[in-house]
Amino acid sequence: MNLQGKTIVVTGTASGIGAEVARLARFQGARVIGVDRNPPSLTLDGFVQADLSSPAAIDAAVAQLPQRFDALCNIAGVPGTAPSDAVARVNYLGLRHLCTQVLDRLPTGSAIVNVASILGAEWPQRLTQHKALAATDSFEAGAQWLAQHPVAQERCYQYFKEALIVWTTVQSQAWFLQRGVRMNCVAPGPVFTPILGDFVAMLGEERVQQDAHRMARPAYADEVASVITWLCSDAARWVSGVNLPVDGGLASTYL
Ligand SMILES: NC(=O)c1ccc[n+]([C@@H]2O[C@H](COP(=O)([O-])OP(=O)(O)OC[C@H]3O[C@@H](n4cnc5c(N)ncnc54)[C@H](O)[C@@H]3O)[C@@H](O)[C@H]2O)c1
Repeated sequence: MNLQGKTIVVTGTASGIGAEVARLARFQGARVIGVDRNPPSLTLDGFVQADLSSPAAIDAAVAQLPQRFDALCNIAGVPGTAPSDAVARVNYLGLRHLCTQVLDRLPTGSAIVNVASILGAEWPQRLTQHKALAATDSFEAGAQWLAQHPVAQERCYQYFKEALIVWTTVQSQAWFLQRGVRMNCVAPGPVFTPILGDFVAMLGEERVQQDAHRMARPAYADEVASVITWLCSDAARWVSGVNLPVDGGLASTYL
């Protein structure tokens, strides 16, 4: 596993999984440019402070990113304790906008990794809706579609992780065939990061206890980071359009 000579843009580098990906990718030889609304607390090769919920702020951040880079890791995200609109903007609409705005800077052989969640596993139940949203071609068009198809606060986190898995799967086909850019999702189960408590509040004690009996423990952020950096590496050059669970086997217990 080697990222020598690669430049990687990582969102969410101020905390949790994003910080671990930045640390590991640099250790593996990459130049890492971080993007986050908060400043980083580790060494990076560049950092752009930006609010990834706003298309204008994303455009301003893109103007500060390198003209060419080899991977984009979309890791910034908010839990379902945030307002539904913020979850839509950060976890889905803004992520899509960033991908499309930097696509021309990603050469053949480069990679995009989107962090979804085990909580997006029920996407087949709403496939038609998620495909319709995926077919909207801009942040604004997506926001308009959502204004006509509002998402309840209680399920917004799950909904937009499902939508992210569907958009990634559908969009990856064209980008891989036409440009040689691979795009995949990673779907962690619970991870020890500062927002783990928000997930407990969001899901309720009963669901958390059910899952607790089905897994050894939550993941450490580095156990998720190593899969994300692998997907950025040339070793994963024939992997595109997948949603890869990194959950200690938790999803397999749902069968
Ligand atoms: N921790 C878990 O149990 C878990 C499980 C599954 C999926 N995830 C996903 O993993 C990703 C990373 O989460 P984490 O657990 O490392 O959480 P975290 O809170 O430690 O990190 C999230 C990062 O995203 C940044 N961010 C949030 N909103 C932003 C905005 N508007 N603009 C710019 N940056 C913003 C935060 O500043 C923070 O640095 C998220 O997409 C989350 O949904 C987490």
